[in-house]
Amino acid sequence: FENSTRTRMSFETAMKRLGGSVLNFSSAGSSVAKGETLYDTMQMIEGYADVVAIRHPRQGAAQYSADSIGLPVLNAGDGAGNHPTQTLLDLFTIKQAHGRLDLDVTLVGDLRYGRTVHSLSHALARFGARLTLVSPETLGMPPEIIGDLKAAGCDITVSDDLHAQVATADVIYMTRIQKERFPDDDEYLKVAGIYKLSKADLGGAKGSMIIIHPLPRVDEIDSDVDDTAHALYFEQAANGVVTRMALLCRMLDADIPDEVTA
Ligand code: NCD
Repeated sequence: FENSTRTRMSFETAMKRLGGSVLNFSSAGSSVAKGETLYDTMQMIEGYADVVAIRHPRQGAAQYSADSIGLPVLNAGDGAGNHPTQTLLDLFTIKQAHGRLDLDVTLVGDLRYGRTVHSLSHALARFGARLTLVSPETLGMPPEIIGDLKAAGCDITVSDDLHAQVATADVIYMTRIQKERFPDDDEYLKVAGIYKLSKADLGGAKGSMIIIHPLPRVDEIDSDVDDTAHALYFEQAANGVVTRMALLCRMLDADIPDEVTA
């Protein structure tokens, strides 16, 4: 129901590598354009598929879908809500690089509307990470999420200065300003392009520091960062396939193939 490149393609690749097949749905070109409700669409899908991955612009739409049918439903992004399968591949990428998750993690950019950082911060708090939240004041992490993180015992620092974090961070998680969620263009233009990382900014960074990003990037990370040892965002996107293979096996009570656990 909403644009997707990596999430859609990696879910599809994952299912096909497991020997399954995929039915592709897109609200453009479907009966959604004729006014069909999400409830009715899900009733149809229940008759055609064994498991569903749904991306929808409305927060709560995945939960609503899961409550409407008897199939496992995976939230592939619900508006400014959550993106839990992205979190699994983010955690996997961080663990692969550092061997642990109780790290100094700096989350940067649109922490208000960015669903990836909502899910990721909840997960990292449970693994003992210390979080630095970097955003302009208007795009701060929602207070109810900060409340959850504090209740989980998470050590949180709030800042609007990205460059001040470079020397101490183990992970810098960059995000796109979520233009499509702003009530109007003027509000977006006030914060567009506010955080940018380029190779010249990384001189003081720890050698082991990694930069990740759920992608797509707009202008937050200069292309001159791509060939530094810090840049892991394309490996991160590739990790979406094995992560989603494992998750699909879990949902369908199937054995996880050796190629995934390896
Ligand atoms: C993100 C999303 O859709 O929330 N992309 C993704 O799934 N990898 C991030 C974004 O759109 O900025």
